[in-house]
Amino acid sequence: MAPTEQKALVLLTTGGEFAVQSKSVTTSGAGEVLARIESTALNPMDCKVKAFALPFVSYPGALGTHGAGVVEEVGEGVANLKKGDQILWQGSFTDERATFQQYALVKADLAAKIPDNASRDGQGPQGGGAGLTPFYAAPNTYTGQPLVVLGGPTSAGQYVIQLARLSGFSPIIATASVKHSDYLKSLGATHVLSRDLATEALSAEIDEVTSQPIKYVFDTVGGAQKVGWALLASGGTLVLTLPAVEGIVRGQDGKTFVNVGGNVNYPAQNELGRELDARLIQLLESGLIKVGRHFQ
Ligand SMILES: NC(=O)c1ccc[n+]([C@@H]2O[C@H](COP(=O)([O-])OP(=O)(O)OC[C@H]3O[C@@H](n4cnc5c(N)ncnc54)[C@H](OP(=O)(O)O)[C@@H]3O)[C@@H](O)[C@H]2O)c1
Repeated sequence: MAPTEQKALVLLTTGGEFAVQSKSVTTSGAGEVLARIESTALNPMDCKVKAFALPFVSYPGALGTHGAGVVEEVGEGVANLKKGDQILWQGSFTDERATFQQYALVKADLAAKIPDNASRDGQGPQGGGAGLTPFYAAPNTYTGQPLVVLGGPTSAGQYVIQLARLSGFSPIIATASVKHSDYLKSLGATHVLSRDLATEALSAEIDEVTSQPIKYVFDTVGGAQKVGWALLASGGTLVLTLPAVEGIVRGQDGKTFVNVGGNVNYPAQNELGRELDARLIQLLESGLIKVGRHFQ
């Protein structure tokens, strides 16, 4: 049986300090499970909530939106999970669903069962991190199309590369520190170019790799948007994890951009979350994708 009290890492006030506090454990309602959290992840958004005093949280509030752990309690009407199952999920910045605490409520249909043979360590980031990636719909959808991934070693970038490989993109050109080259190639990058190259030099190196126009660039860094926009050919799409910066305008020079992100707990993204969880587990079980590494 789950305890009634737990420890949580809470942000005390808007833009304030973190502290460990005791708080009560909420019982799971219909369609929910109560999970004991064994692994969580820092998302840049956790830092941004504090640094920019973002108004997502009622204070004192627990942060954390990535969880992996064990089902402790099953609410009414839940058929897909049972006590003791290992799961991963995307949490949200609400008192009961944040993941910088020992227990959290999870919507049962938005939790993915972790394969029995897998470790829960490192699974935490996947629920949301993989949500950033181009949705892998069918093998070889983009066969032979070049893709440039700015920031191969970011959490997002590692999944972008793997899913891009499955989608048939080729060549997959990632920017990174040279020390990450072998690892990124093991994920599916065909070429790794130095993150320190200025835009013109990077463009020249890409020209050496492919003579095709670059129709897809994924900026996983957030700060490489202008580089990505410059590399993109007319008719191309820049994929962004952060809002577009000034100077990047849809339609300019025949280029466009899309923003990816969000949270599968939003009603509009529930269906995406269900599909993504099902595919993610299949891909992990079959070994087609690996859990990403953490470099910071
Ligand atoms: N839209 C959303 O829902 C969403 C969700 C999560 C994150 N994000 C945003 O996505 C961005 C990345 O977050 P993340 O958690 O995936 O990153 P992360 O894991 O914290 O990224 C760290 C890695 O990025 C590499 N890196 C940093 N700058 C680089 C550059 N200019 N070129 C190549 N590599 C670079 C570092 O390389 P070294 O090891 O060489 O230093 C390090 O390995 C952040 O801005 C974050 O706010 C958005």
